[in-house]
Amino acid sequence: MKENSVTIPRWFDRHLHLRSGDMLKTVLPCTLKQHATGAIIMPNLADPVTTIEKAKDYRKEIEQVMTSLRFNTNAPKGQEWYWKKDYDFVPCMTLYLTDHIDPEEVVRGFEEGVWRAVKLYMANQKGQGGTTGSAHGVKNLLGRYPVFEVMEKHKIPLLGHFEAVEEDVDEFDRESVSVDRDLKPILKSFPGLPVVFEHLTDGRAADFVAEVDHDIHATVTAHHLMINRNAMFWGGMNPGHYCKPVPKRETHRAKVRQYVTSGNRRFGAGTDSAPHDESAKSRCYGCAAGIFTAPSAVELYTMTFDQDNALEHLGPFLSENFLALYGMEVSSEMMTIERGALVVPQKVGEVQVFKGGTELLWKLVG
Ligand code: NCD
Ligand code: ZN
Repeated sequence: MKENSVTIPRWFDRHLHLRSGDMLKTVLPCTLKQHATGAIIMPNLADPVTTIEKAKDYRKEIEQVMTSLRFNTNAPKGQEWYWKKDYDFVPCMTLYLTDHIDPEEVVRGFEEGVWRAVKLYMANQKGQGGTTGSAHGVKNLLGRYPVFEVMEKHKIPLLGHFEAVEEDVDEFDRESVSVDRDLKPILKSFPGLPVVFEHLTDGRAADFVAEVDHDIHATVTAHHLMINRNAMFWGGMNPGHYCKPVPKRETHRAKVRQYVTSGNRRFGAGTDSAPHDESAKSRCYGCAAGIFTAPSAVELYTMTFDQDNALEHLGPFLSENFLALYGMEVSSEMMTIERGALVVPQKVGEVQVFKGGTELLWKLVG
């Protein structure tokens, strides 16, 4: 029998880009309306969040936007309930790891509750990063081992963007090369370090995360569960389907999805919703990497689990798996998603939305 509704604890987005300034004001309401209890906020701003002061300032900016939304008197019709809501959304800050920050500051920021995790982006020797805002990332991974050592001691999670950033590595092998070259030595050297493999896309990486004897988990985006690499090229180039890591071939998508919808507890929802203005996404050369899913992330994930007849595993994936790692509890408040048509908005501000203009078969109702 097919269920017509699912009720699960309010969810948590384990990987979210909110940006700052006007973009933050534009996109934050999307995640708030999705009933998230909070999110792991990515630190790759134009001026990356590399110090305690910057992380505090960024959190303050997010909280100010939340407050301003609360007192918004121009609520769109029918949405007054939402705009009046007193948000209990927890922005969980992360540190952008550089080659320079001292181990002591990493620990201090964690102990003072400024950040809950450390984000690892890597850059190559020319200072080129593999994704948006990653040029300040770590060039010398071995040089960061003293940081990993204190993180292991204090149980500070390492959130890794594991993709090789050398120009000559094949685009579709970047993740698996990084597993062998970067991740495995880290796990071996720091057996007690909690690790989250961010936005996992490669079946080989999925096998590794599922099987290795380590405190390791992986976030998976809604779009990587739904599209393979053909989607970037079908009917012409589609920048709207371009993100890092790039979607992989079908066998990889299917393998990752198999782990997720079969209820493997090492995998959890992290949207990697990454807004860019249409102008940046539509450049012929140097199109920005990132897919914006925030407005309907819950519905996209629900459709995926429904297609695999696995709705019983949706709640753990969205709302339970490894939340304790981030210092979050499973919410005691529930949310309900019902079968029913939902048309995804084409754009929010100047940002094209993933699957914009199409109809989804599920709807988050409250
Ligand atoms: C992200 C962004 O735009 O900040 N882009 C993306 O393609 N996922 C950065 C990231 O997570 O790699
Ligand atoms: Zn990201």
